[in-house]
Amino acid sequence: MACSSGDRDNFVLSGATPRTGKACMTIDERTDHRLPPVVDLMPPGARLDGERLVIGGQLASELADSFGTPALIIDEVALRARARRYADGLAARWPNSQVVWASKSLPCTAIYRIMGEEALGIDVAGGGELVMALAAGADPSRFVLHGNAKTDSELAMALEAGVGTVVIDNLDDVERLERLSSREQGVLIRVIPDVATATHDAIATGHQNSKFGLLIPEARALIERLRGSDRLRLDGLHVHIGSQILDVAPFARAVEAIAALGEFEVYDLGGGLGARYTYDDHPPSIESYLDTLTEAARRFLPSSARLLIEPGRSMIAETGVTLYRVVSVKRGATRTFVAVDGGMGDNLEVSLYGQRFEATMADRVGGGESYTVVGRHCESGDQLIESVALRDPAVGDVLAVAVTGAYCLTMANNYNGALRPPIVLVAAEGARLALRRETYEDLLGRDAAPPPPS
Ligand SMILES: Cc1ncc(COP(=O)(O)O)c(C=O)c1O
Repeated sequence: MACSSGDRDNFVLSGATPRTGKACMTIDERTDHRLPPVVDLMPPGARLDGERLVIGGQLASELADSFGTPALIIDEVALRARARRYADGLAARWPNSQVVWASKSLPCTAIYRIMGEEALGIDVAGGGELVMALAAGADPSRFVLHGNAKTDSELAMALEAGVGTVVIDNLDDVERLERLSSREQGVLIRVIPDVATATHDAIATGHQNSKFGLLIPEARALIERLRGSDRLRLDGLHVHIGSQILDVAPFARAVEAIAALGEFEVYDLGGGLGARYTYDDHPPSIESYLDTLTEAARRFLPSSARLLIEPGRSMIAETGVTLYRVVSVKRGATRTFVAVDGGMGDNLEVSLYGQRFEATMADRVGGGESYTVVGRHCESGDQLIESVALRDPAVGDVLAVAVTGAYCLTMANNYNGALRPPIVLVAAEGARLALRRETYEDLLGRDAAPPPPS
């Protein structure tokens, strides 16, 4: 069954597996050691139907048949549960608060809609994310606009849309906003706390030389400057120290650092909590992260302050799985390559940060020999997983790569003319297309050159 954009709001696969009548295991049985460990990295609720992977009640290989490959599958039930866990957890610890989803982690109108329905605020960085958030019908008064290079036109769009908060990254933002705004606009100042984090350099943002935000002395001067502004209402401070952070201590240090700038009504403490990509990753739980933030806030910030947080990766990464089809299996000098129909066109996390992913054959979960999973693009660096155990991969089989919900589709590109993959939402009612696959017509659709003479 092929899907087109016309299927967008229809559930096209339904009926919970198993269909074979074999015993199925549920999330509650995950500690059952008979379950291959890779299932533990799949979205909560993933289980086996015999040896076949079931995500969100659907057989992974049937999802691949229905929607094609590569495809990003997001478990909507798991995503909503995580949004609620964040929102309820923060509200219980600090009632005057708001969870703001960092939409760069998976910008797709259907996901903005889900987050809006869960009453989350939305962090948008730039005009494109703003357009999608508005198209989803989310409440712009709960939007937080970010960016270290916001243009006049993006700021004008945000002001026009009634975005609640603009985060000031530099003095040029101030000049632009004062020129463009016709009424009072709430702003926060992004502060560099000078806090080191044990994450990849490309996603560390809390250090002195970060391109994001202002150093403490500059922030202090800007606070004074904004106190005299008749257009910009300085509500408070923002800090974000990086992404895929697997230790809570730096988050507390960042709170302490910005507290030195005085007392404000609002503190946005950013995102950054890591996801569990591999068996060896042990990220702090959402609850222990929230405990750390709110304990630091109780120590260092005014008790009346409003707290915002902006989770992205930790909200959505673990709810996503990418399905590929094996195109070739080839023996090399020291390894055997499994080449799939995607790669760095839909997952740049490996080449940009060296992120490790785990995977399994969708219909033979667990066990097997070591293979190198490579993509279809013209770079030797286009390698999805250097070494992963797979059971008897063969041409035409479906490979499921776990924990691809965040920042994979975000950075999808058209390298080698690849078509950017669809996003499929799975829930109890079935599976539905949230974003269709790009087409060759889409690729040609931006051509501005005149067609060749006929
Ligand atoms: C300002 C800001 N807030 C929040 C986030 C979300 O971070 P994460 O996805 O690591 O939670 C980012 C991501 O880089 C960011 O730049």
